[in-house]
Amino acid sequence: MSPAGPQSRAVRKAVVPAAGLGTRFLPFTKSTPKEMLPVVDKPAIQYVVEEAVSAGITDVLMVVGRTKRPLEDHFDVVPELEANLAAKGDSTKLALVHRSTELADVHYVRQHEAKGLGHAVLAGKHHVGDEPFAVLLGDDLIDERDALLARLVEVQQTYGGSVVALLEVPQETVNMYGCADLAPDEASEGDDDVVRLKGMVEKPDPADAPSNLAVIGRYVLSPAVFEVLENTAPGKGGEIQLTDALETLAGMPAEAGGGLRGVVFRGRRYDTGDKLDYLKTVVRLASGREDVGAEFNAWLGEWVASGFDTEQPTHARPDAPSAKA
Ligand code: G1P
Repeated sequence: MSPAGPQSRAVRKAVVPAAGLGTRFLPFTKSTPKEMLPVVDKPAIQYVVEEAVSAGITDVLMVVGRTKRPLEDHFDVVPELEANLAAKGDSTKLALVHRSTELADVHYVRQHEAKGLGHAVLAGKHHVGDEPFAVLLGDDLIDERDALLARLVEVQQTYGGSVVALLEVPQETVNMYGCADLAPDEASEGDDDVVRLKGMVEKPDPADAPSNLAVIGRYVLSPAVFEVLENTAPGKGGEIQLTDALETLAGMPAEAGGGLRGVVFRGRRYDTGDKLDYLKTVVRLASGREDVGAEFNAWLGEWVASGFDTEQPTHARPDAPSAKA
């Protein structure tokens, strides 16, 4: 392991792109950002901010679009609701309501045009300044028991440069992700989960993909990425791709803020990017919950045993004769 050197600064800030149109969740996303979709009882975005905070982040910049209002409201105080719960002595609900307001310093910047993920990250330039920072994409939720972002921060502080989270995926699905092109790395030999990247390709054809290591939505980036993004031409889909900027950073010298490593994640990642994955995520997280898990799992078992009979009246017991019989 080689220390990153005295120029390495602590990672205190995170940029969370949340300006997507969310077209896979219409009509919900007509007036509400998809980051507000409830995962059991919390909006997806709160899981993301909680994850950032547990990795030592104290300042979160959300890059928002036209439907930003519910996001702002969620991380703001609601005095009348708090007063009402306090008057009733409901300290449990009061704590739930208050929690999102005291997690971190949350700031907002508007992305005026949807020009891609790289463009969204660039909107954080002035807020972030000259220090390494995290980027968290709301479509990926990482189980709170698996401290992925904290590990990324640790690796960035050790090796400098930038660090991405990688997940081994089936080769035929690499076209949905940024894909890692690995290089030999003697420096990280002692760290089993760390690899060095010589490049990255955004959503390659599986036949041409340099590996099946996909980038999932967690990054710790050198501030050098901003200048690189300013000079990155639109790539895949006509958008300014963060992946293309990382490809450039991978080839730059350490003194200029270059260098790119990956942390290979082997934990629990939940996808909320489309309807089907979102439903799976809600079911999986609900199953593990202390408050509703046992009852939910019992019901789920019965529902599976019923053969997913949607004709069945909802009040019928699974062993009762079906209305069709
Ligand atoms: C984005 C990135 C891609 C990354 C993915 C992770 O793609 O461009 O490199 O692998 O997030 O979720 P998107 O899913 O926004 O199309």
